[in-house]
Amino acid sequence: MTEQTEPRSRATELALEKAYAAKGPKANRELYASWAKTYESGFIVDSGYVYHQEVVKVFCDGFAQKGQPVLDVGCGTGVIGGELAKLGMSVIDGIDISPEMLAEAAAKNHNGRPVYRQLMEADLTIPTDLADSAYAGVVSSGAFTHGILGPETILELLRAAKPGARFALGINSAHFEEFGFGNWLGQQQSDGHIEELKFRLRPIYGEADEADPNQWSRIAVFAAT
Ligand SMILES: C[S@@+](CC[C@H](N)C(=O)[O-])C[C@H]1O[C@@H](n2cnc3c(N)ncnc32)[C@H](O)[C@@H]1O
Repeated sequence: MTEQTEPRSRATELALEKAYAAKGPKANRELYASWAKTYESGFIVDSGYVYHQEVVKVFCDGFAQKGQPVLDVGCGTGVIGGELAKLGMSVIDGIDISPEMLAEAAAKNHNGRPVYRQLMEADLTIPTDLADSAYAGVVSSGAFTHGILGPETILELLRAAKPGARFALGINSAHFEEFGFGNWLGQQQSDGHIEELKFRLRPIYGEADEADPNQWSRIAVFAAT
């Protein structure tokens, strides 16, 4: 782990306080409606956010099917999609509850083409219209965190995944402990729904404080069966 050298800006602290206080779909829809325009230029830049890059690195280390569909869960403004496109992934779908965040993602281009093939507005705490067995890869940063998604959402994602699909889901470390993601995923593996389960500890911010679990992610890596 790296050492934190500078305190984070007050703007970042306030943004995170507001985000962690938003509990459930309605509060999150309201929060991200007002945050969408400045989320990248403000929060991502000011906070030294590297989460999307860390998840994509872990995902791509073991994913060779670049032309197969990949789902970005809680895609927001599309920072994961941008990284996947740079690395040659060509069929990327995003799903998120916030139309304002999705509008930002829709504007993202790589080499003159839209980064996302399809963007879907949906609440991932309830069943969605995602097609069965559609995705060869499933990735996420920032959505498995306080007040947003718990472990049960992973069942819906498994339904949408092809057999053998590679998952790399970033889970805030404090949220991971609070909701027992480790045991829950271990049980899924024992029950034969997933295999090759591993956890990778990665920073959410470039200069993450070693003592603060909210600045670290457990990236759950596994394959659908
Ligand atoms: C912290 S942002 C992460 C966005 C992006 N993945 C990133 O790393 O920057 C969390 C995202 O989760 C979305 N979200 C919140 N609640 C949701 C829900 N119930 N279903 C789907 N998306 C949700 C928000 O709209 C927001 O875009």
